[in-house]
Amino acid sequence: MSYLILGIESSCDDTSAAVLRDEFLLSNVMASQDVHRNYGGVIPELASRAHQINILPVVDQAIKQAGVKLEDIDAIAFTRGPGLLGSLLVGTSFAKGLSLAINKPLVEVNHLQGHILSHFIKQAGKENRSPEFPFLALLVSGGHTQIVKVTDYLNFEVIGHTIDDAVGEAFDKCAKMMGLGYPGGPVVDRLAKEGDENRFKFSKPHIAGLDYSFSGIKTSLLYFLRDQLKENENFIEENKADICASFQKHLIDILLDKLIKAVKQTGIRTITLGGGVSANSGLRNRIEYEGQKRGWNTFIPEFKFTTDNAAMIAMSGLCKFRLGMTCEIDVPPISRAAEMK
Ligand code: KG4
Ligand code: ZN
Repeated sequence: MSYLILGIESSCDDTSAAVLRDEFLLSNVMASQDVHRNYGGVIPELASRAHQINILPVVDQAIKQAGVKLEDIDAIAFTRGPGLLGSLLVGTSFAKGLSLAINKPLVEVNHLQGHILSHFIKQAGKENRSPEFPFLALLVSGGHTQIVKVTDYLNFEVIGHTIDDAVGEAFDKCAKMMGLGYPGGPVVDRLAKEGDENRFKFSKPHIAGLDYSFSGIKTSLLYFLRDQLKENENFIEENKADICASFQKHLIDILLDKLIKAVKQTGIRTITLGGGVSANSGLRNRIEYEGQKRGWNTFIPEFKFTTDNAAMIAMSGLCKFRLGMTCEIDVPPISRAAEMK
C-alpha cells in the first residue's frame, strides 16, 4: 500500500510542511524566524505569532511543490511535542482544522523521534542509506541531548540524557558571553575552523553512567573569560577563534565520551546523529573519524535535515500510519518530553 503523508512542524521557531510519498520526499518547505535575532534567543510569544503568519503559505507551498492535491493526502502528521506550547498550538490546531476540512486522519508525532527517523527519508537520485536496527541515536539540539537506543521504527529507549542544559544551549551561551550573536552554534562552528582547539583547556563534568551535564561548563567558560579579561580587556577579540575551537572541542569530547561508553555497554555499533547541533562540522567530522577508527556504521544527516523540518515529522507519521496509529481530534499539544509517549 502506498501512502501520501503531509507533515507539519511548529515546535520552536521554524514553520515547516513537507510531503512524502511513502519514504520518498516530494517537498520540504521551511520558514525560519529572523525576528528572534534581536533578542538573543527565541521569544515564545513572537514565535507563535510568526507561525500563525507562516503556516498557511508554507503548507500551501509544500502541497504545490510536491505536485499533489490536498484531497490526495492520506494522513496529516503533526508535531504534538515537545516544544514551546504556543508554537505547538499553531501547528496542532492547523492540522486539526485541515483534517476536518479534507476529512483525513491525524497522526501525532514526537518531535525527538522525528529527528531520529529522519535517517529513513529517501530522495530521488540520492544514495539513500538508512540504518539497520538496533542503532544508537545521538540526539543533540537546543533543547535536548540524549543517547537513544532504537530497536524498531517505534521503539525508543533513552539510555542517557542531560541532567541540566542541552549541548545546543552551551553553544548558544558561549556565543552570547563572547558577544557573537544568536543563534550561537553556527557562529562558534565557523570561528572554530580558524582556531587552535588545543589552546585552552576546560574541566570535564563527572556525571555517572551515560548522562550528560552542560551547565557547569558554561559557568567555567564564564569564569575563564572573566579572569582573562581582567588581564587583557581585548582577550576575547584577540582570541575569538581559539576560544571557540577549544570550547567546541571540549563539548564534542564530552558528547563522544558517553557515546563510546554507550557503544561498549550495548554492543551496538550503528550510530546515527540528529538534531540542530548535528550541523556542527567539528562534531560531524569527529563522529566520522571515531566511526572509522572503531568500526561503527555511522549516519550523519544532510544539513537540511539537521534543523527542525517537517520531512522528519512526515516520516515518523508514515511509520505510525502504516500501523494504523492515528489520533483523535482532541489531542492537546505537549510541551515537555517527559510527558510524551
Ligand atoms: O534542533 P534545533 O533546530 O532546535 C531545537 O529543537 O532545539 O536545534 C537548535 C540548536 C541551537 O542551539 C543552535 O545553536 C544549534 O542547534 N546549532 C549548532 C549549529 N547549527 C545549529 N550548534 C553547533 N554548530 C552548528 N553548526
Ligand atoms: Zn529539533
